Amino acid sequence: MKNRHLPPSVLGFRCLACGLEVADAAYVCPSCSGNLDLVYDYRAVRKRLTRASLARNPDPSVWRWRDLMPIKAFRGVPVVRIGGTPLYKADRLAADLGLSGVYLKDDGRNPSASFKDRAGAVVVAKALELGERTVTGASTGNAASSMACLAAGLGLKTIIFVPEKAPAAKIAQLLVFGATVIAVKGTYDQAFDLCLKATDEYGWYNRNTGHNPFTREGKKTASFEIVEQLGWKVPDKVFVSVGDGNIISGLWKGFKDFYSLGLIDRLPRLVGVQAEKSDAVKRAFESDGVIRPVSGDTLADSISVSLPRDGEAAVQALTESQGFAVSVTDTEILDAMRATARREGVFGEPAGVAAVAGLRKAAARGQVQAGEKIVAVITGNGLKDVASALKAAGRPFTIGPDPAELRKLVKTHSPGGMRTCRN
Ligand SMILES: Cc1ncc(COP(=O)(O)O)c(C=O)c1O
Ligand SMILES: [Zn+2]
Repeated sequence: MKNRHLPPSVLGFRCLACGLEVADAAYVCPSCSGNLDLVYDYRAVRKRLTRASLARNPDPSVWRWRDLMPIKAFRGVPVVRIGGTPLYKADRLAADLGLSGVYLKDDGRNPSASFKDRAGAVVVAKALELGERTVTGASTGNAASSMACLAAGLGLKTIIFVPEKAPAAKIAQLLVFGATVIAVKGTYDQAFDLCLKATDEYGWYNRNTGHNPFTREGKKTASFEIVEQLGWKVPDKVFVSVGDGNIISGLWKGFKDFYSLGLIDRLPRLVGVQAEKSDAVKRAFESDGVIRPVSGDTLADSISVSLPRDGEAAVQALTESQGFAVSVTDTEILDAMRATARREGVFGEPAGVAAVAGLRKAAARGQVQAGEKIVAVITGNGLKDVASALKAAGRPFTIGPDPAELRKLVKTHSPGGMRTCRN
């Protein structure tokens, strides 16, 4: 049976857990409930997507990659521009680490200010194609605020489950974009399970990370951009923060897509960066591959996950790419936030700069070589979590509107002068 909502270039789904191949599925594997991956007919895609066809295509957004998306009939896409984010050469950050080829992929520059917009793009297009009216999702904050932003103006209602303690900025985004927000007195994991139950009961279209197989198909577009932005060079290593594991598995899918199409002739190693107490993927990767729950406790709320929902796919990405995992403390994350902002002018939220924290640690341990081409993906903008930014950066000097007070302040801080930079 051919799935009537998949283009001819998609052969069907393959279960990432048991390997079962099915032509049609709503969400997870009908046999083992594992997460599904889309399988493409690369020979068909190759006829349309080439370096030459890309050179002729002026569209820098995620829709540049329609030929590698599982949408048959586009009945609408979000109004705002998603993807086409900058890749900066981070020479000062690199020099600090004794490296030369470090790049930052700043995905905080997406419309809702996080990498999640890439996933939301495809999910919204799919929901419109399927004729859905209501999309639901559970999220630490970014996936949801993305869904609310991207659904705006398209006649799609969004019902969102977030942990009550999600940063205020993310909740504000949700409300401003018009989502119905259900703040769950509990963890992200509990919000996720409640959202799945709501989907069963009310039939809303579910966007949950990993559970919905289409999220990965949007996230992979970052890899396409990285390769194109590097002039068709493949980075040696890509550092990215890992919570549920859907971003890293999406990035891996993207590189594999390009490799299967013959657009690149080698693959990068992926490095998954997790917060120290939210490191279920790292533990599984370094032991028997089995994901077991951890406390999930970290200030980096977006990667605070007890039981990663796309953990198996993340472990596969690390294994297949011959990469490795690094865990970082909250202090190291805050240090990386300052360094990334002050050395390169890029302001990331804690999970957004965790990749840089991981890179710094890996470089100090000799796990990256001086001449390597390294990309660190900045997955979310710093304004998403101002409280953490203030923890990283300190407080301003407060004085009255009085020149005498100013003179006193300046004097207190001489002879070095007023402190302007801590790094
Ligand atoms: C800013 C940011 N970084 C990293 C992640 C981790 O992505 P994943 O849960 O797919 O591993 C998230 C997920 O919410 C995020 O919002
Ligand atoms: Zn299965």
